[in-house]
Amino acid sequence: MSKIRVECGDITRLRVDAVVNAANSGLRGGGGVDGAIHRAGGPSILQECDAIRYRQGCCPTGEAVITGAGDMPSKHVIHTVGPVWRGGQSDEASLLANCYRNSLDLAMKHGLRTVAFPCISTGVFGYPPEQAAPLALHAVRDFCARHPDAVDEVIFCVFSRADEALYVELLKD
Ligand code: APR
Repeated sequence: MSKIRVECGDITRLRVDAVVNAANSGLRGGGGVDGAIHRAGGPSILQECDAIRYRQGCCPTGEAVITGAGDMPSKHVIHTVGPVWRGGQSDEASLLANCYRNSLDLAMKHGLRTVAFPCISTGVFGYPPEQAAPLALHAVRDFCARHPDAVDEVIFCVFSRADEALYVELLKD
């Protein structure tokens, strides 16, 4: 059974098989965790993103692509594009769930056993953290129940004590 836990800190420092990036569809880097990952990983990540964009075009919301992790201690970066929050009536919930499901599916396909997620869409994209957290945890638990041998550990790598408290409470269930 996969272990699911929360950790508060900088995702770029985690020694895991894959860190998940909250990217934009153009895969061009940006601020927030996207900026942190590109800064910590170095130019090779953007070069691989450019090659992916050239090959397949932009990454649609809810989908995921994978690159190396450059200079970071992790082995790979799974770039996924979360939904922009528009009030909750534009399919945001299912698109956000797709980010977690498709990222874990990609990790499984690449034989990656430890995956760390940031709080996708809850920064620049404005998704309310108290709505995103239970949805993210449900999507991860659902994937792990359907694929019990896929991953050994999923880490919710939060960047604030408020987000940490959300996940600690939810993980008590
Ligand atoms: N480690 C872990 N989490 C981080 C880090 C970090 N180093 N830096 C930021 N975060 C957290 C934020 O505090 C937030 O909780 O990641 C979460 C996601 O916030 P954003 O990075 O703003 O991502 P998102 O809301 O999905 O917006 C994506 O922002 O940076 C651009 O190119 C990106 O266009 C895309 C958009």
